[in-house]
Amino acid sequence: MRTDTGTPLPPLRVGVLGTGNVARALAPGWIAAGHDVLLGSRTPAARKPEWGDLPVASLPDTAAHAEVLVNVTPGTESVTVLGGLDPADLSGKVLMDIAVGFTPEGRLSHLEESLGEEIQRTFPRLRVVKTFTTVDCAVMADPALLTGPSTQFLSGDDPDAKRVVARLMTDLGWPEEALLDLGGIGAAAGQEHVAYLFVAIARSLGDYRFSLRVVPPK
Ligand SMILES: NC(=O)c1ccc[n+]([C@@H]2O[C@H](COP(=O)([O-])OP(=O)(O)OC[C@H]3O[C@@H](n4cnc5c(N)ncnc54)[C@H](OP(=O)(O)O)[C@@H]3O)[C@@H](O)[C@H]2O)c1
Repeated sequence: MRTDTGTPLPPLRVGVLGTGNVARALAPGWIAAGHDVLLGSRTPAARKPEWGDLPVASLPDTAAHAEVLVNVTPGTESVTVLGGLDPADLSGKVLMDIAVGFTPEGRLSHLEESLGEEIQRTFPRLRVVKTFTTVDCAVMADPALLTGPSTQFLSGDDPDAKRVVARLMTDLGWPEEALLDLGGIGAAAGQEHVAYLFVAIARSLGDYRFSLRVVPPK
């Protein structure tokens, strides 16, 4: 992404909390875009050969490294994971929150207060932006897998934080016109609740690699 004057923006130090499917799908694209990416693991020494050269560190070291954090932990565990970090490493930082909480029965864990809202309430100094909850990680990392344009949603209280997250999305190949700002973090509930629709569509199509599109009126 470039500034209005055409000057390239400086790379970001990105700390990805989690080393699972989403972490490993997104990290290569951000590294290719020039960002300084660390994946945070509970057990960094147990990194697996299939992770290739992706840089892995402990969760505290990843948080200390980052200017932007990405939450890709299980949504039922995210508040505990964040609570285990030094508050100084969270203060003022952007958190791109992709997580969704599921019970062991496959139901949503955050029915009243969304996970995004819970994180923002619990860690008020974080600048939480909920996004990418309505798409599979293969498509998140490579929107060119789709046959046409789609919509990705952003919810968060801090406009600057949303701009940072939008930059990380465009760096993965998402065009700016695909990004729809839903307003404050209260709209995270809607994003998380799409999970049920997402699973039903995936079953119907027999494929997770699809995306949703908001079609405005004429
Ligand atoms: N998969 C998708 O396409 C997709 C799409 C949209 C949203 N999401 C959401 O994004 C998040 C990540 O999804 P994922 O598919 O990457 O999940 P995943 O493969 O299960 O990875 C989650 C990672 O979180 C870390 N973690 C930290 N604390 C944990 C704990 N207490 N228990 C288990 N793992 C813990 C683990 O890394 P370490 O073992 O290295 O610590 C684990 O690899 C989830 O909240 C999911 O609902 C996923």
